[in-house]
Amino acid sequence: MGKATFIDRSGNPHTVDVQNGTSLMQVSLDHSIEGIVAECGGQCSCATCHVYLEDGWYEKSGGPSDREAEMLECVIDPEPTSRLSCQVVMSDELDGIVVRVAQKQY
Ligand code: FES
Repeated sequence: MGKATFIDRSGNPHTVDVQNGTSLMQVSLDHSIEGIVAECGGQCSCATCHVYLEDGWYEKSGGPSDREAEMLECVIDPEPTSRLSCQVVMSDELDGIVVRVAQKQY
């Protein structure tokens, strides 16, 4: 169990408890965080769960897989710390992670 903070599209932070092994996409849906669409249900094939990892968490996350990097080429307004939240899975190492929801999803 750890904590994750989602910064929603209005700039408001929401800190929630997250079980290890749960994707940040699922957590955002469970807590009705505005802005995550997750059309494909976490299969890394829609790119509608785009987030930015803040405050050095991108490096700690280990970065995207080749498949995720390919899908990230489709997102609106990519940044160097862009990730697909369905591919970021909670672990002890990510306790305290801060995630900003992208303003637009396809
Ligand atoms: S939910 Fe579809 S790529 Fe993440």
